[in-house]
Amino acid sequence: MKLLDILTALKKDISYIEKELYRGVETSEPLLAETSLHLLKAGGKRLRPVFVLLGGKFGNYDIEVLKHVAVPLELIHSSSLVHDDVIDNAETRRGQLTVKSKWDNRIAMYTGDYIYARAMSIIAELPNPLIHQTMAKAMVQMTIGEMEQIRDFFNTDQNVRNYLLRIRRKTALLIAISCQLGAVAAGADKEVCRRLYSYGYNVGMAFQIQDDLLDLRGTEKQLGKPPGSDMLQGNITIPVIFALQEERIREDLLQLIHRIHEDGDKGSVQAAVGMIRESDGMAKAEALADRYMNKALDALEGLPDIKTKKNLRDIAHFVVKRSY
Ligand code: IPE
Ligand code: IPE
Ligand code: MG
Ligand code: MG
Repeated sequence: MKLLDILTALKKDISYIEKELYRGVETSEPLLAETSLHLLKAGGKRLRPVFVLLGGKFGNYDIEVLKHVAVPLELIHSSSLVHDDVIDNAETRRGQLTVKSKWDNRIAMYTGDYIYARAMSIIAELPNPLIHQTMAKAMVQMTIGEMEQIRDFFNTDQNVRNYLLRIRRKTALLIAISCQLGAVAAGADKEVCRRLYSYGYNVGMAFQIQDDLLDLRGTEKQLGKPPGSDMLQGNITIPVIFALQEERIREDLLQLIHRIHEDGDKGSVQAAVGMIRESDGMAKAEALADRYMNKALDALEGLPDIKTKKNLRDIAHFVVKRSY
């Protein structure tokens, strides 16, 4: 199932936002123009703008207002990926070379900064300070989440709580505010905005858990990058944390992780991925993603009964079933 199949009614507005994304990064500086275009052209699900538009349906839907939220949120997301790929030393993303690998880390750093700054100037066209503050806070939290990820690379003493806090920051909050701020910009009822935030937060948690599962079981074609990248980079994700709780494999898995840390041995990555796939860690992580999905569905109860509610329900299901 493709995301756009759920959203046929929004097709026109989604293509409009797509054009606005390109317009948003236009610059006469040739290198920034090239790197930004490279990033946007590689595609992506555009999940965050979709949430903004759907949130907007709960108020006075006006695409000319909503674009000032949808475009910055996708730009913030995209620039965080440019930076993330430096941290994770990733060669490919969305099936294309990353900015850091096509150019270098310095260029990636400023490309990310540039796109962040463009996002800020677009959002500044809206007069609502609540939107500005909410976005800035989420950006601070994302940065903290990424720093926590660096700090915890190869840390095998992490518990479920550390992991959940980290993904809350690095992923879930941005998705939460995407749902919330579309509704806020459209002048929706406060309680509606609150519920949408809660929906987005829980979908975001399920989304990252699924991302971490996909890294272990997806194919390169599905992922647009080699599977097992998290293992290679030392990013200890939830299926790994659960697998490490199994006495039967704990010592062997620790040894493999240690070896990967020492010399980035690809054979050990494969062996570790195989071991985790065979463990109960996968099913436990899936159950956790399901729990968040159900919480997301609960948050939708009590929202006005418009067609959009079904779209949001379908997206929550898409998130935990997705293969890309
Ligand atoms: C990737 O996000 C990073 C995570 C938060 C897991 P997406 O999976 O939404 O990335 P694109 O935009 O579709 O490439
Ligand atoms: C998401 O984390 C990155 C951000 C939220 C900035 P990941 O490191 O899991 O994302 P991918 O797997 O590289 O897309
Ligand atoms: Mg990454
Ligand atoms: Mg990932």
